[in-house]
Amino acid sequence: MKILLTGANGMLAADVKITKPETVSLIETDVDELDITNANAVDNFCRHEKPDLILNCAAYTAVDKAEEDKETAYAVNTTGPKNLAQTAAKLNIPFVHVSTDYVFFGDGNAPMKENDKCDPKGVYAKTKRAGELEIEDAGGKWLIVRTSWLYGSRGNNFPDTMIRLASERDVLTVVNDQKGSPTFSRDLAEALWKLIELQKTGYFHFSNSGECTWFDFAVETISIAKEFELLPKEKNIDIQPVTSDKFPRPAPRPAYSVMSLEKYTQTTGETPRSWQDGLRNYLKLKK
Ligand SMILES: NC(=O)c1ccc[n+]([C@@H]2O[C@H](COP(=O)([O-])OP(=O)(O)OC[C@H]3O[C@@H](n4cnc5c(N)ncnc54)[C@H](OP(=O)(O)O)[C@@H]3O)[C@@H](O)[C@H]2O)c1
Repeated sequence: MKILLTGANGMLAADVKITKPETVSLIETDVDELDITNANAVDNFCRHEKPDLILNCAAYTAVDKAEEDKETAYAVNTTGPKNLAQTAAKLNIPFVHVSTDYVFFGDGNAPMKENDKCDPKGVYAKTKRAGELEIEDAGGKWLIVRTSWLYGSRGNNFPDTMIRLASERDVLTVVNDQKGSPTFSRDLAEALWKLIELQKTGYFHFSNSGECTWFDFAVETISIAKEFELLPKEKNIDIQPVTSDKFPRPAPRPAYSVMSLEKYTQTTGETPRSWQDGLRNYLKLKK
């Protein structure tokens, strides 16, 4: 099976490449080889390369910067998926896309299901939801996997930032009033391959299981990092919980962005491992 991978230099794509099944050959592209915002380029590229499926890992992921850079965020997160989905529909091949928990308002207290009402706040969230709707409208066969609090070995991420800050300081202040489910990008990549293998379509939610606040995530990160000697065991790090208003950000953040994993679990027969196990595995690879 020949798959066109877009956004191939990104964080998730790095793990998509590592976990690729042997039967798959990837055509790896990032913006220099294929700019997904250019409809003609997408069409020509696909007609020439004739992939059997398109997997879109390209995105504009700078959530706060998007508030100022609306046009680019829309181009990459809305027009890009639209171009890819329309080409896939024309060629009669499936289109697989990755979206976000931010499409929900995130003010509830029960895990969000795939069909729950979307109400995105902020430019990034709106562009991602608009991208989902464009894919639905393209009229082809599509799979959209929404994920949350993604981290992986390529690019900046929360656990690495906490470890770096803990090596420089004795006190860390971390937000304790936003809840979500951290997701190791290796686990998400494997979930994508599983859903592709099963030829699933429609919306799916995938994250590691369980929920925590950024404060809990930081505490667990520092504890495992010490165990793996990524930080000196004897270093005393005072991690203090704070409310979000202590860290004002341009884009709004959902207070509760936990997604239900029921559909994924029922479909695949597999429960995603806990966020603590995913984190442990990620940090073990850094040892
Ligand atoms: N990171 C998270 O916490 C998180 C949470 C929930 C959902 N998601 C979703 O998960 C998916 C993967 O995220 P990620 O963190 O792996 O993203 P990422 O690391 O930012 O990778 C995205 C890649 O797409 C490239 N790109 C940007 N514009 C492009 C264009 N016009 N044409 C082709 N490629 C382009 C980027 O290049 P440049 O770097 O040069 O711009 C980058 O290599 C995204 O759909 C994202 O919305 C992420």
